[in-house]
Amino acid sequence: MNYVLALVTGATSGLGKALCHALAQKNISLIAVGRNIQKLQLLAKEIQTPIRIVQVDLSQTNQRASLIALIQELCPDLVINNAGFGLYGSVVEQPLKLAQEMIQVNIQAVMECSIEAASALKKAKKPGLILNVSSAAAFFSYPNFSIYAASKAFVYHFSEALDIELSAYHIRVLTVCPGQIATDFRKKASQNFPQKPDHLTLSCKKAVRLILKQIRQGKRVQIIDLRYRLMIFLSHFIPKNFLLPYLQKSLSKRYKKNP
Ligand SMILES: NC(=O)c1ccc[n+]([C@@H]2O[C@H](COP(=O)([O-])OP(=O)(O)OC[C@H]3O[C@@H](n4cnc5c(N)ncnc54)[C@H](OP(=O)(O)O)[C@@H]3O)[C@@H](O)[C@H]2O)c1
Repeated sequence: MNYVLALVTGATSGLGKALCHALAQKNISLIAVGRNIQKLQLLAKEIQTPIRIVQVDLSQTNQRASLIALIQELCPDLVINNAGFGLYGSVVEQPLKLAQEMIQVNIQAVMECSIEAASALKKAKKPGLILNVSSAAAFFSYPNFSIYAASKAFVYHFSEALDIELSAYHIRVLTVCPGQIATDFRKKASQNFPQKPDHLTLSCKKAVRLILKQIRQGKRVQIIDLRYRLMIFLSHFIPKNFLLPYLQKSLSKRYKKNP
């Protein structure tokens, strides 16, 4: 991989942290973005290549503005918009503020960082690659996971279109759509409700390996887990009146319902 400077959001845990370690092993310098400064400092101690840590809460407009300024200044040639979160349960049982934050982090931040990173690269006449983390959920209308799935559908459609739009400038925009990965994502989405192990979960290490392979191969959109690729394909043959209630039921044991 010939990248010089990579920016990774959501570098404090799960996939983002693992991606930082993998990129550092390839001698790529890092800008690690997260909202928890202690976790960022810990990451910086573990990483051998030059690393700059940046504390940003991506749900806050003014904090995103400072990140954008940094992107314009440093012009990273690899940008991974990884930060994101979901919430299980009905929207009417969740605080509106959390739903709004989800839109800010999963959509607004991805859109702003993609546009600003691409503009900086175009201005500097440099090639580069932006990888946006969507989800297998992006392919469904997902009752009780509705805002998350819709936010990831935005990431998918926006990034796929942007890849064509920016091809004239040698800037690629790839979309990765993972199925379940063994991170804290589910614990957070369920607001700490105990999670049962799931045979469909991919290890973080394998997810990172498949994402790096996608970057190497320059595949525009990749559902990285074959099992999910098959399920998404088959889902096109199932009437939505069956499919959507099934999806809703599949989440029912993952979170505590209000009485
Ligand atoms: N794990 C899965 O099953 C799965 C499946 C499909 C797609 N994905 C996607 O993969 C990406 C990485 O998730 P993960 O599985 O690695 O989960 P994770 O361990 O919960 O990591 C999510 C990262 O996003 C950060 N983040 C959340 N809200 C933020 C905010 N307001 N400001 C800044 N950073 C924020 C988190 O920071 P904190 O440490 O401060 O919370 C954390 O670093 C997400 O976009 C997720 O939607 C995950």
